[in-house]
Amino acid sequence: MLALTCQVYAQSPLSCQPEWLDGDKPLEQRVEMILQQLSLEEKVALCHAQGKFSTPGVPRLGIPELWYSDGPHGVRAEINWNNWNYANWTSDSCTAFPALTCLAATFDPALARQYGRAIGEEARYRKKDVLLGPGVNIYRTPLNGRNFEYMGEDPYLASVMVAPYVQGVQENGVAACVKHYALNNQETNRGHILVEVSERALHEIYLPAFHAAAQAGAWTFMGAYNQYNGQHCCHNSVLINDILKGRWGWDGALVTDWGGAHDTRQAVFNGLDIEMGTYTNGLTSESSFGYNNYYLADNFLKGLKDGSYPVDLLNDKVRRILRLMLRTTLNPRRPLGSFATEAHAQTGREIAAAGIVLLKNDKGILPISSQVRKIAVVGENATRNLMQGGGSSELKPWRCITPLQALQRRYPEVEIVYARGYDSGKAMYSQEGTPSHDPAQLHEEALQAARDADLVLFVGGLNKNHRQDCEASDRKSYALPFGQPQLIRDLARTNPRLVVVLLSGNAVETDWAAQVPAIVQGWYGGSEAGTALVDVLSGDVCPSGKLPFSFPKKLEDNGAISFGELSYPGDGKRQVYMEDIYVGYRWHDTRRIPAAWPFGYGLSYTKFSLGKASVDKKVCQAGDMLTVSLPVTNTGSCRGAEVVQVYVSQPKASVGRPVKELKAFQKVWLEPGETRTVSLEFPVASFAFYDESLHDWHLEAGDYQLLIGTSSTAIQASLKTKVQ
Ligand code: BGC
Repeated sequence: MLALTCQVYAQSPLSCQPEWLDGDKPLEQRVEMILQQLSLEEKVALCHAQGKFSTPGVPRLGIPELWYSDGPHGVRAEINWNNWNYANWTSDSCTAFPALTCLAATFDPALARQYGRAIGEEARYRKKDVLLGPGVNIYRTPLNGRNFEYMGEDPYLASVMVAPYVQGVQENGVAACVKHYALNNQETNRGHILVEVSERALHEIYLPAFHAAAQAGAWTFMGAYNQYNGQHCCHNSVLINDILKGRWGWDGALVTDWGGAHDTRQAVFNGLDIEMGTYTNGLTSESSFGYNNYYLADNFLKGLKDGSYPVDLLNDKVRRILRLMLRTTLNPRRPLGSFATEAHAQTGREIAAAGIVLLKNDKGILPISSQVRKIAVVGENATRNLMQGGGSSELKPWRCITPLQALQRRYPEVEIVYARGYDSGKAMYSQEGTPSHDPAQLHEEALQAARDADLVLFVGGLNKNHRQDCEASDRKSYALPFGQPQLIRDLARTNPRLVVVLLSGNAVETDWAAQVPAIVQGWYGGSEAGTALVDVLSGDVCPSGKLPFSFPKKLEDNGAISFGELSYPGDGKRQVYMEDIYVGYRWHDTRRIPAAWPFGYGLSYTKFSLGKASVDKKVCQAGDMLTVSLPVTNTGSCRGAEVVQVYVSQPKASVGRPVKELKAFQKVWLEPGETRTVSLEFPVASFAFYDESLHDWHLEAGDYQLLIGTSSTAIQASLKTKVQ
C-alpha cells in the first residue's frame, strides 16, 4: 500500500492536493487513482452506513464521509447519528417546497428545474451530499399513503418532470437519489410484498420515469422495500443488474432504502452498492446490531477473503461510490449552496400556485370578488402545519404560511372568521390522531360561522397523519375523513356561496361535488402554501395546474382496486397488478368508466381556444421526430396558461393498447387576446409498445391518431399519421 507520496499528491509541491481532485482529468481515471490506494477493508467500509444518514469516507486519505438527507420536498431536520430522534438543532429549519404531486400538476419542466436547483442549494448548504428524492413511483391507487411524494399516474409526465429536478439538484454537487426503484406503489406490507406485474406493464408504466432519471444522469438511485421476481428490490438482479446497470448503462450507485437489504449474497451479486438503515424499518424501530453486522460489512469482507465473493464485484461497487464522491464531496468546484432564503420561499410559492388545480367554478364564484365583506374560513387545514407528519418527508420549515394567515394578510379590510369544523388529532405518523374536541360542537360552530358570510372557504382534505397521506401505511377509505363530507354538505345547505379547497396528495371521493359551486385541489404547498393558495383564490394568479392523476368517482372505479384483494393490497405475501398497463386514465378511457376529474384536467379564470392543428408528417419512419403545431388564443380577460396535450392512439394494433397515451405537452402563458403558435415535438419511436415476445420495445407500422386537447378527455382535434 502506497503511503501519501508525491505520486498521490499533486504535481505542484506547493498545493498539497491529491491528483484525483484535478477536475481536468477524466473522471474514470481519477476513480482508478483512488481505487488503487484502497485496502480491502477500506473498500468494504464504503459500502455500508456508519450512522443513520452517513457512510464513511477514507480518513487515511482525507476522503470525506457522504451525508444523506430526506428529501424530496425539503432538507429534513438533522437526525441523531444513531437513532431516529431529531437532533434538536436550531440551525436546520429549511424551506419546505411543494409536494411532488403539486410540482407534477404544474406540467412545467422549467419549474421542476427551479425546484431541483433550489432544494439542491439547501442540501448543499446543509452539507448534505445525497438528497433522498425525487420519488417517481407511479400512482396506482388513491389509497397509497405516499402518493404525495410522487409525480402522478402517467409515465411520460413523470419522466418529463423528473429529469430537470434531478439536474437542478445536481448542479449543486449534490446527488439526487431517485426512489423507490421500483414497484413501491403502496405502503401496506411494503417491506416484503412480492409484486407480480407483466413485463410489459413494468416497462411501459412503472419504469419510464426511472429510465428518464437515469438518462438525465442521476448519480444515485434508492432501491424499494418490496420484492419483485422473488428478490427484494434493493438487491434485485433483474431490476438493477439487467435493466438499470445493464440495459440502461447507468454508472451511479444504488443505495438501499433504510432497512431494505436482507441478504449478503444477494447484496453482493445483485447490484447493491450502499447499504443503509439495516435493522430498522426506516421510521421507528431500532436494533442493537452495529454497522459491522450489516450485510455488506463483516460478512462481505469474510466472503471476499475466503474467495466466496469475487473482488471484481467489490471493485464495481467502489468505483460507483468513488464516482459519486468525485461528483459531490470531492468536487472542489461545487457551489456553496444557500439555505432558507427568501428566494427559495418565492420559488416554492410560484410552483405551489402554478400547481393548484381549479376543478369546478360555477357562477364565477372565484376569484374572490371585491364585494366580499365577510369570509368564513372553515376546516382544520386552514391552520394546520402540513409539513408535520407524513414520514420521512416530514419537514421543519423556517416559514409556514397557512391559508388563514395568508387570507388575513391579503384582505386586511375583510372580516374573516374561522371555525375548525372537524378535528383529526395531533400529527403523528405511527398512530392515528386522537381528536380532542367534540365533533358535534365543531360542526355546529362551523355552520354558525358560515351563516351570514359573503363567502365560505372550506379548507380540508387529508393530512400527514397515520393512514392519511403518510408513509408506512395506506389510507383506509377513499372518502374524506373526519366527517368532512357531511360538513361540506351541511355548509352548502347553510350558505351556497361555498368554495371547497382540498389539500391532499391523493384523490378523494367528491360525491358532494354537485352541491358545491367551486372546488380547488390545492395539494401540500410547502412554506408558502397559504400565500400561493390565496394568490389563486384572489385572482392575483390565474390557476393553471392540471391533474397528474385521475379522481375516480368511487374507489372501485380505479383499475387496481377493481380486481379485488389480490390486486390491491395483496394477500399479505404477494399481489398481482391485474389491471396491467391500464393504470389511471388508461383504465378509465379503455373501460369507459368516466372519472370524476380526469387526468390532465384543470380550469382557468380565463378561456382559451385552440386553432386548427397540423402535423408535419402524414407518413413517417421510426427514427423521425413529429411536430404538431396549433395556435392557442386566450379569449378571456386575464393572463393565464393552457396546457396543450398530445395523446397518441393506435386504433388497430396487434396487442391491446390504451385508447390514448400522453406523448407531448406544453404549457403556454398568454395575455388576454394573445395568440401563440405552439409546436410540440416528439419522437415517432415513442409510439412503440413493449413486446414481451421480443423483450423489447416494438413500433408497429400502420395508422396512428394524434389526439390534441386540454385534458385526457377534452380532445379537440384528431390528426392522422402513418408509420411505415
Ligand atoms: C423511506 C425513504 C427514506 C428513508 C430515509 C425510508 O423509510 O422509505 O423514502 O428516504 O426512509 O429516511
